[in-house]
Amino acid sequence: MDEPPVTLARGGTPAGEVVLRRHEGVLQLVVDGVFAMDTADPSTERVLADEALRHHPSPARVLVGGLGLGFTTRAVLADPRVRQVDVVELAAPLVGWARAGLVEELAGLEGERCTLHVADVADVLARRTAPDGPWDLVLLDVDNGPDFLVHAANAALYQPGSLAAARRVLRPGGRLVVWSSHRAPALLEALRSVVGPGDVVDELVLPVHRDGRELEYALYSFASGAPAGGG
Ligand SMILES: C[S@@+](CC[C@H](N)C(=O)[O-])C[C@H]1O[C@@H](n2cnc3c(N)ncnc32)[C@H](O)[C@@H]1O
Repeated sequence: MDEPPVTLARGGTPAGEVVLRRHEGVLQLVVDGVFAMDTADPSTERVLADEALRHHPSPARVLVGGLGLGFTTRAVLADPRVRQVDVVELAAPLVGWARAGLVEELAGLEGERCTLHVADVADVLARRTAPDGPWDLVLLDVDNGPDFLVHAANAALYQPGSLAAARRVLRPGGRLVVWSSHRAPALLEALRSVVGPGDVVDELVLPVHRDGRELEYALYSFASGAPAGGG
């Protein structure tokens, strides 16, 4: 018989409640009543990191927007070229559970090469709050995608204003990559609207088999045309 999910922790934030629960071995994260992710198949969260890393010759500093269950961050930390990872997470309780090692999936992330920050990544990109850039890679996975938001306020993140701000916090040769659980043509257009000379915008479609369905997730990237290491 199907067992009901077991709630492991719940905590309030100004943007709504965040809940960690386990269902038949699978860890689930629910943010403000919206299913954010689970551990059933974290392959595309890792691909977000791997794709960005493989395109950069020396990704020393990385910003990860959205801790979630830590898969993107762990994949970044697995690359020895990375010296510092700033993870920006809106939900303070989630950062607290990670620091306390409440579940093994989130345990042991913070350390010499990795700092967890409680902040809105939109404020970080706009330089309204710490941490300070610039970064070689900026990886954004704070929603299920621009058309399936966890918080309505995140809609602005996918607009030209925020994307231009993200471009400004990149080091020369840097790269912004945005994860989405669906194709997002409007995001592709918004990225194209902020390019400078030599910059490249790209869509990578990721076929995913989930719950008996064939889905198309996607990564949207913006690569600065300036040579890496240029300042
Ligand atoms: C889908 S999860 C991220 C998954 C992550 N890539 C992983 O590998 O586990 C989205 C996370 O972004 C956080 N979040 C949502 N909006 C945010 C914002 N504006 N700034 C920072 N974090 C945000 C959520 O609380 C949640 O932890």
